[in-house]
Amino acid sequence: MGTHRSFNFSAGPAALPTEVLEEARAELLDYRGTGMSVMEMSHRSAEFIEIAERAEADFRDLLSISEDYAVLFLQGGATLQFAAVPLNLLGSRTTADYVNTGSWSKKAITEARGYCEVNVVGSSEGSNFDRIPDPAQWQLSPDAAYLHLCSNETIGGVQFHEFPSVSAVPAPLVCDMSSDILSRSIDVSRFGVIYAGAQKNIGPAGLTVVIVRRDLLGRARPETPSMLDYSVHAEAGSMSNTPPTYAWYLAGLVFAWMKRQGGLAAIAERNARKAATLYTAIESSNFFRAPVAIADRSHMNVPFTLPDPQLDAAFLEGAKVRGLVNLKGHRSVGGMRASIYNAVEQHAVDNLVEYMAEFEQEYGS
Ligand SMILES: Cc1ncc(COP(=O)(O)O)c(C=O)c1O
Repeated sequence: MGTHRSFNFSAGPAALPTEVLEEARAELLDYRGTGMSVMEMSHRSAEFIEIAERAEADFRDLLSISEDYAVLFLQGGATLQFAAVPLNLLGSRTTADYVNTGSWSKKAITEARGYCEVNVVGSSEGSNFDRIPDPAQWQLSPDAAYLHLCSNETIGGVQFHEFPSVSAVPAPLVCDMSSDILSRSIDVSRFGVIYAGAQKNIGPAGLTVVIVRRDLLGRARPETPSMLDYSVHAEAGSMSNTPPTYAWYLAGLVFAWMKRQGGLAAIAERNARKAATLYTAIESSNFFRAPVAIADRSHMNVPFTLPDPQLDAAFLEGAKVRGLVNLKGHRSVGGMRASIYNAVEQHAVDNLVEYMAEFEQEYGS
């Protein structure tokens, strides 16, 4: 019997490429003649060092990351980075700027408030986080240690499609890219720090990737736990303690898969097509509605509502019958959310759109 795979629209942990899981399965018990699983291997073994180095090299290659940056493979999730960022970057400064575009920005802001004065330079909270607040209106501090953004709000479905220039924002840009890293090409040199939990476009949960410009290393506050100090991890090649070896290995398989797909340009094109399929279906219906302003709609997470929340349960039930799963919106927003990360294929989105049209036919007026 063939393996059953759902059309999985989960926001995270999220769908992984079937090809990658098959590779991992083939190597599960005996990794390339070693007679053991990667899970059972010392992180200091020659085999694992090779896996780790190859993963980092492929990741650097995909995003064109120069040697001016260290790449760290850490634990603690993006949430721990909410504290690591101010601890590592404030130095002698006491203020940091933050843009508030939704739930994840808010969490980062709340955590940072434990370490510094947070200046919220712009917020779309007043309009229920339906857009990116206009950068021309941001009230930047003259002495901020950095400016923090969340490039893609996973819950609200709001995404930066352009980042501010150095002339507009001279402080180092720090970006939570948990839910859109590797979904498109970006100019890494525009950022001081980029961080991302792995469980969307990188691999399984348990791994957090941090890209940090080397000139920002070495200024952690004295009370910073060594496990949160970027320079400690950079010096130890992310092996200051036992790293999440299996997640790192799987991330490496995902990076290699992405290169085989044609790299970020090809992946971005596919992602744009999937997003267009879904948003066009929503726009052309009188039934479904997307709450986010068109210019700022996410290519990764697509929230949409039905005209009556009473219909939500029937929609989800019918979707499940067709193998379309994890479409329920976040509890703080309601409605639906389709997360269409790199590993979600066009075919899955086509199936969803077809189902939506049928549902509208049946329940629309
Ligand atoms: C944009 C964003 N930031 C931060 C987080 C928190 O990540 P973690 O659960 O890895 O701490 C998430 C989780 O989904 C997220 O989507």
